[in-house]
Amino acid sequence: MKNLVIAIDGPAGAGKSTVAQLVAQKLQYLYIDTGAMYRAVAYLALNSEENFLTAIDNIKLSLTYEDGKTKVFLDDKNITDDIRTPEVTKLVSSVAQEPKVREKLIDIQRDLAKNGKVVMDGRDICTNVLPNADVKIFLTASIKERARRRWLELSQKGYSIEEEKIQEDIAKRDKMDMEREIAPLKQAHDAILLDTTSLSIDEAVAEIIKLCQ
Ligand code: DC
Repeated sequence: MKNLVIAIDGPAGAGKSTVAQLVAQKLQYLYIDTGAMYRAVAYLALNSEENFLTAIDNIKLSLTYEDGKTKVFLDDKNITDDIRTPEVTKLVSSVAQEPKVREKLIDIQRDLAKNGKVVMDGRDICTNVLPNADVKIFLTASIKERARRRWLELSQKGYSIEEEKIQEDIAKRDKMDMEREIAPLKQAHDAILLDTTSLSIDEAVAEIIKLCQ
């Protein structure tokens, strides 16, 4: 197995980041969470005094890895936890529709993947960012299961939100991500569909490792 580029797309809450992170750890590859980059720009939009479309010209966005976990820095400020708040989650899909934002982030993403040995996940990785990836996967799960997983994740962080409300928010985000004009979320024609509704994390990871061999 040499210097593969592994691309994983899928809707919110399908387990992409958990699975992609573990695949990267097993193969000793770099994991790149592109959703975290869009979230960082949404955080900027909420916190910047100037228009975020102007502010992003001069931002320094970096991802680092510690104990297998991604840390996100915006101009040297650690915003790892700040990008997961419900406020950022609510805003991120509309920020991600801005052509200028996508252009800037896609340049960074392609540069990070240029030497291979990467697992990158997002919405348009197989279709647009890395169409020549060696392994392309569309990871999904039923909306009910995705809402249940997000609820669990948020509850563990101390947020109390009803599962039904989460499901509504996910449905809204799916719709925006799938219907936007630029690089909408869709399964690439040559991507392999992996439905994780009734798979454990380890089973999903094993499936992907098998596809890499
Ligand atoms: O995977 P996530 O929930 O952290 O992603 C947050 C948002 O970022 C998602 O609603 C759409 C956007 N996104 C995107 O447009 N393109 C990507 N490659 C990754 C994420």
